[in-house]
Amino acid sequence: MEGLASSTEELKKNVEHHEKKMMMKKKKKKKKKERLGWIEWLRGWMYVIHEMLFQRIVASHLQNPMPLPPINDLTCIVTGSTSGIGREIARQLAESGAHVVMAVRNPKAALDLIQKWQNEWSGKGLPLNIEVMELDLLSLDSVVRFAEAYNARMGPLHVLINNAGIFSIGEPQNFSKDGYEEHLQVNHLAPALLSILLLPSLIRGSPSRIINVNSVMHYVGFVDTEDMNVVSPKRKFTSLVGYSSSKLAQVMFSSVLHKKLPAESGINVVCVSPGIVHTNVARDLSKIVQAGYRLIPYFIFSPQEGSRSTLFAATDPQVPEYCELLKADKWPVCAFLAQECRPTNPSEEAHNVETAYRMWEKTLEMTGLHSDVVEKLLEGDQITCRYGADSIEAN
Ligand SMILES: NC(=O)c1ccc[n+]([C@@H]2O[C@H](COP(=O)([O-])OP(=O)(O)OC[C@H]3O[C@@H](n4cnc5c(N)ncnc54)[C@H](OP(=O)(O)O)[C@@H]3O)[C@@H](O)[C@H]2O)c1
Repeated sequence: MEGLASSTEELKKNVEHHEKKMMMKKKKKKKKKERLGWIEWLRGWMYVIHEMLFQRIVASHLQNPMPLPPINDLTCIVTGSTSGIGREIARQLAESGAHVVMAVRNPKAALDLIQKWQNEWSGKGLPLNIEVMELDLLSLDSVVRFAEAYNARMGPLHVLINNAGIFSIGEPQNFSKDGYEEHLQVNHLAPALLSILLLPSLIRGSPSRIINVNSVMHYVGFVDTEDMNVVSPKRKFTSLVGYSSSKLAQVMFSSVLHKKLPAESGINVVCVSPGIVHTNVARDLSKIVQAGYRLIPYFIFSPQEGSRSTLFAATDPQVPEYCELLKADKWPVCAFLAQECRPTNPSEEAHNVETAYRMWEKTLEMTGLHSDVVEKLLEGDQITCRYGADSIEAN
């Protein structure tokens, strides 16, 4: 795919510039940052508006559906594959020959979908190799159960796609039974726990990839590691704050995870933006806004168009090379692919290495893992998680 290598040099320069800026800022004021600066915030919104208005033009070089290379030997887990972008990703991966595990909270809906896809596919090739496993990201116990059941197969995992997500627009602040704000848990904590617990299978499948379906909204996100649930009176919670912060938290966590996985592990972590996509993610919008949403199909991607950056990140042979380059370099962030499948720079805040490492520690603490969990799993040692009775072992 064009653009991947050529953008790297430019991105490196940008990152160096970001690093210098961050260093200067750090020197200037030791005071703890409590929110995004208004220039950063405005710039973030410019990115969001730009994506909304110009995504179709910027992605005009992409085919739809995106042609995939042969992937018969891949096993892929796709979370949240009963709706929207995830549903497209799962179907296209399966139709291209991959073994797909639909990790969903509603197994019945997934089984119905599989039946439908098998019927539509009949006569075009071998039956689709697709199955369902239950996973509710609002329960960290469910995440551990899922990972234990998958790891117990002792089979490989080549691609983990953390797609499931929520954006409960206009809803009051809700907390999971684990005690965490729901956007934070579904969009960041649970996928982070899943990625780590599945490392033994990803090691078996190496070279393998963890793909996080992120969002351009992370540009307007801000993370306070001392107030992950956004309950302090210093910050007013809105669903926008919950959503954008959870997506920024995911970029930060992914960057540290990517750094912690040595090149020899062959595991790469990539965040992607799908674009602005017409899916059920807008289910909580008012009826009027939903109607408007439907009236602007030119600007908004279909789920099939929105699936392209993730499918690209999951299957393009150049992506691991690009990730390795970032890993070897003094690069503070993981790969981030824009909706048009080109590498882009995550937000300035995502480059805040100090906060990213604090976020890493905080995430491990909140998900009941020890701070050396990755190192232990890489060495094949057993680890424990507060949310599961059994230990997880690399093998
Ligand atoms: N649409 C956009 O414009 C846009 C833009 C940027 C990023 N994204 C990201 O893209 C990803 C996919 O979203 P989408 O637009 O395709 O939305 P969607 O149609 O609402 O799909 C979200 C999926 O996540 C699943 N899910 C929600 N809560 C879950 C839980 N507790 N446990 C397990 N699965 C759960 C849903 O399951 P059910 O089917 O059972 O409801 C659904 O399958 C999300 O991460 C979203 O943040 C979307």
